[in-house]
Amino acid sequence: MSEDLYIAPGSKEEKYRTLLPQVKALVEGVDCTVSNLANVAAALKETFGFLWVGFYRSEGGALVLYPFQGPVACTRIDFGRGVCGTAYNERRTLVVPDVEVFPGHIACSSRSRSEIVVPLYAHGTIPAQNEPWGVLDIDSEQPGYFDETDAHWLEMLATSLENTLNP
Ligand code: SME
Repeated sequence: MSEDLYIAPGSKEEKYRTLLPQVKALVEGVDCTVSNLANVAAALKETFGFLWVGFYRSEGGALVLYPFQGPVACTRIDFGRGVCGTAYNERRTLVVPDVEVFPGHIACSSRSRSEIVVPLYAHGTIPAQNEPWGVLDIDSEQPGYFDETDAHWLEMLATSLENTLNP
């Protein structure tokens, strides 16, 4: 096996590789956005032990809290505010190694040290032309936890959710 195909047992790469087909199977055939997102949040939290995993949906001109796992969170985030609102406005994944130095970071839990936010698009919408449906937000208690591996796999996971994101 060549070195770049080697995936260390227990590594985050291996966890994502195992998780992705499970997520696809979980959401397939279930016609309820909230049920599916609740299960996906649970699967991510159980697999990685993240502090907080959840979804915000664009609704009425702001991001509104959707299914999540973890400590209580703010229910509404204005576009352009915090990591979530910035990722939404800029329509790109944001990896934040240290939440304390991110301008305007919204601290829902003081235990959060690093964060990743991935925009979500509903089926049939085009990232360059349409507003995102919402975002996937994940917080870790470990500083600098998230990197390009997480961004890559979570963007794939986001794509596998596009059919369950109802308009
Ligand atoms: N920290 C986020 C707010 C959401 S909570 O972390 C759940 C932000 O700055 O967008």
